[in-house]
Amino acid sequence: MLTRNLLDDDPAVATIDDAHHDSAFSTLFLRDLLAALRQPVRSISPKYFYDAEGSALFDRICDLPEYYPTRTEMSILHAHADEIAGRMGPQAELIEFGAGSCTKVRLLLDAMESPARFLPIDISGAHLEAAATGLRADYPGLQVRPVVGDYTRGLSLPAPLRGGGRRVGFFPGSTLGNFAPREALNFLRMAAQLLRGGALVLGVDRVKAPHELHAAYNDAQGVTAAFNLNLLARANRELGADFDVADGFDHSAFYNAPLQRIEMHLVSRRRQTVSVGGERFVFEHGQTLHTENSHKFTTEGLNALARQAGWRPGPVWSDPAGRFGVHWLDAPP
Ligand code: AVI
Repeated sequence: MLTRNLLDDDPAVATIDDAHHDSAFSTLFLRDLLAALRQPVRSISPKYFYDAEGSALFDRICDLPEYYPTRTEMSILHAHADEIAGRMGPQAELIEFGAGSCTKVRLLLDAMESPARFLPIDISGAHLEAAATGLRADYPGLQVRPVVGDYTRGLSLPAPLRGGGRRVGFFPGSTLGNFAPREALNFLRMAAQLLRGGALVLGVDRVKAPHELHAAYNDAQGVTAAFNLNLLARANRELGADFDVADGFDHSAFYNAPLQRIEMHLVSRRRQTVSVGGERFVFEHGQTLHTENSHKFTTEGLNALARQAGWRPGPVWSDPAGRFGVHWLDAPP
């Protein structure tokens, strides 16, 4: 699972091998980290969390007792899979944005009537191939065609199958919430174009009591803290930076109610100097590197955003406590 910056001006990644991709991504990481550190208010895209270590830590987050979004969304998909699949119709083609390990999509595939093809899109080819191999074994009639690419930068998909059904996008996990509002709008606009005449199944975390949100991003085992700090560890590993990961920074996550988002920061424990790419940067005591926003949505707010991006909002499925929403959105032809 990856999040990307929709406002980046780099060319879209089509299909590239992982080794090239990794070094290109390190170059972007260096560029973006230096740009962040040169600012008095420092902020970097959360897409850099997800190297192998970060992805493994994120998988652990998804199983934490405090981190309700993953299991809540799974329970909603499980409970309403038949209804969702009914809306897709027979022979539908499913396109997952940021597919990762393709676990949630199985709940939909199990309920769909003769799904024609599954196109998982992810930036990591290795990850995708492994997931695709498992899906091919478990769904023998299904064509699985991974698309290695960056779904936030505009994609071209293979032509729809002749005689196939609707094209339906799947964007679970509230990854939309990691975009800035403008980026979220751009993503939804791009997806509405890509899926013209089709639909989108979109999972988003909801606005709720701050203490529940706080717990989800400040787990007792410290996995979220390790996930956040891994950004600095990754900079040390990949870019030869010298962040003091063990003692130099604290994880901080809090709910910013006016902006309806969890903010994650890394807070400097003291005045210190770090070196990145041959440049030295001072962190004052308490100065932060802002590493992630995780926006929360109301049903009305999400539907308004979707309408603005050209979608026609349909039904919304939720859990009994209303913690998470799975939205059906139709794309006009
Ligand atoms: C991937 N994304 C939706 C997660 C979230 O909740 O914003 C990433 C995460 N950050 C901390 N915990 C989980």
